[in-house]
Amino acid sequence: MIDRYGREFTYLRLSVTDRCNLYCLYCKVPELPRPERLQTSEILRIVRVAASLGVRKLRLTGGEPTLRSDIVEITHAVATVPGIREVVMTSNGLTLDRLAAPLRDAGLGRVNISCDSLDEETFRKVTKGGQLRRVLDGMEASRRAGIQVKINCVILGGCNDHEVVPMVRFAVERGFEIRFIEYMPMHSGEGEGMFGSPQTVPSAVLREALSAHFELERLPADTTDGPAETFRIAGTQVKVGFISAMSSPFCESCNRLRITPEGKIRSCLLTGGEVDLVASIRRGASDAELADLFRQANDTKPPVYQLHQLGAVDMRAIGG
Ligand code: GTP
Ligand code: 5AD
Repeated sequence: MIDRYGREFTYLRLSVTDRCNLYCLYCKVPELPRPERLQTSEILRIVRVAASLGVRKLRLTGGEPTLRSDIVEITHAVATVPGIREVVMTSNGLTLDRLAAPLRDAGLGRVNISCDSLDEETFRKVTKGGQLRRVLDGMEASRRAGIQVKINCVILGGCNDHEVVPMVRFAVERGFEIRFIEYMPMHSGEGEGMFGSPQTVPSAVLREALSAHFELERLPADTTDGPAETFRIAGTQVKVGFISAMSSPFCESCNRLRITPEGKIRSCLLTGGEVDLVASIRRGASDAELADLFRQANDTKPPVYQLHQLGAVDMRAIGG
């Protein structure tokens, strides 16, 4: 399915819950409504319709997706949908020690694990109480289970930007891909009082800092790839990615739509506007009608995000 600006929809990010067991300073909002959750059968229906429209890659997101008690069943169900070539997940890693093996058996091929610091104290502060050890255990359990791991590291100026070289060393030692994500200011006042106001550090600055220690070889992108610009560390198989929504927006290559935990299609992470899919499912809409709702959302996807129109946005209510 191609939109008005020639972008093909191949990648669906589906948020299965807005619940999270961390409270990261760049993601937090004071209070959340509790949306009615999508049933597994509804998730399956949504994925079938998306696959019929050309989606090949499905990412399960949250909140923290593994907090759903039926996450293994959901993974198994969506992994068997014809047309879906890969089911992947974004997780904070806390529960993967226990869940990596069953998720792999259910069909999970890759997991992106958020980890913003290798210093226990900084990690605890950024996540408001999270234990770094459990995340590292989750990474190892995923590797042991045969799930490919990428580390997602949101860089906050004045907080963890001095850690990029040790983070890459850590990734090289363990053979994990790592991506540095520019902090996106989604709502005002976040994090103040802890590290001051978080600052976005442009990826170019991080690349410069890394190039003093590593030689980075640029890699080509694939049509179902996410937004990272990826490099290989010369002499290794390890990749380093940079996700630069602030300094270098990637809207023209946007290949994705999102399903929020409330069952709405969201065409752009950083621009408002949603199409209520689950309401139509619950009214008894046909697959053709659901496909039309996807078309409608795709046709209203803006050419470039409009962050200034956003107001207070909660990543957990969108799925990151
Ligand atoms: P891969 O498929 O492994 O490349 O993953 P991905 O980068 O698509 O997914 P992930 O959930 O790991 O997202 C990494 C970062 O990219 C997160 O901070 C996301 O919020 C951000 N991101 C993903 N898609 C978009 C998008 O459409 N717009 C913006 N601004 N950021 C995005
Ligand atoms: N800016 C950048 N990345 C963010 N994430 C959550 N909130 C923000 C933000 N404000 C990241 C998480 C996770 C991914 C899904 O989105 O760290 O890795």
